[in-house]
Amino acid sequence: MRLNAAFGVVTELRLGLVGGLWPTILAVWHIPSLLFQPLEISRIFMSHVWDLYGNSVDEAGRGVKKGLITPHAYGVVLDLGAGHGHTVNYLDHSRVTKYVAVEPNVHMHAALRRTASAAGYSEDAGTLLVLPCGAENISTILSYLPAPHPPVDTLISVLTICSIPSPQSTISALITEVLKPGGQMLFYEHVLSERKDVAWWQRFWTPLWGIFFDGCRLDRPSHKWIEDAGGWVQGEGGIWGKEEETEEHLFWHRVGRLVKT
Ligand SMILES: C[S@@+](CC[C@H](N)C(=O)[O-])C[C@H]1O[C@@H](n2cnc3c(N)ncnc32)[C@H](O)[C@@H]1O
Ligand SMILES: *[C@@H]1O[C@H](CO)[C@@H](O)[C@H](O)[C@H]1NC(C)=O
Repeated sequence: MRLNAAFGVVTELRLGLVGGLWPTILAVWHIPSLLFQPLEISRIFMSHVWDLYGNSVDEAGRGVKKGLITPHAYGVVLDLGAGHGHTVNYLDHSRVTKYVAVEPNVHMHAALRRTASAAGYSEDAGTLLVLPCGAENISTILSYLPAPHPPVDTLISVLTICSIPSPQSTISALITEVLKPGGQMLFYEHVLSERKDVAWWQRFWTPLWGIFFDGCRLDRPSHKWIEDAGGWVQGEGGIWGKEEETEEHLFWHRVGRLVKT
């Protein structure tokens, strides 16, 4: 593997640190008690990093999302780790009745509501629901959604499975308890590479990367976990890659659309 590919994350780490650190220090300066809340500091940091880089990450995935989300998402859509709501911009308003955004980082909620509202989804109209819990918090998610259960037609995950706790059991519970039979899961994730050398570097960087970026892991075979969760209609949708992406990239993506039986 080329060395500049192996060390590719260093640039991203540096940019993220430079961008996120100063506003986070200012926040701690104003509220010193934050020093005793490391999770809160990490979330404030992440919300500033996303202010700076969320749009360019969205742009890099635009082609994929236009092919994956716009033609397929329908009904009640649940977006895992909605961030600043970039996904809402790809929804076809004539087919999506409700956008449910699961986002545990409350520092991202203001931007999330702004994006959703600009796309025509609002809490007042009953077309937007912002849930401040994690994807793993299934009982809370269900408690906000009216019966019949499972309540969701389209489950979307864009660059989120890398940071949820107990990913395998969470994915499986979401599919069983939250996604309707006949509903679909759409995902776009960076995942563990199938190349040994790339995978080695992904595992090498993960501990450091995760400290700064909200526990995000570069070494998860998320696409395999989703596929293995089972109960998918054979021969519909599938799992594919990102056009023109080199195999050497530490952020190697998989895209998928799977339909629940
Ligand atoms: C890389 S961002 C992607 C945001 C958004 N999906 C997008 O594509 O713009 C990952 C998001 O996952 C959220 N997140 C972190 N832990 C989570 C959890 N346990 N459950 C759900 N989302 C989580 C983060 O707060 C962050 O907004
Ligand atoms: C689930 O989410 C609710 C609401 O945000 C929170 O009060 C509760 O602590 C969460 N539970 C778990 C197990 O994370």
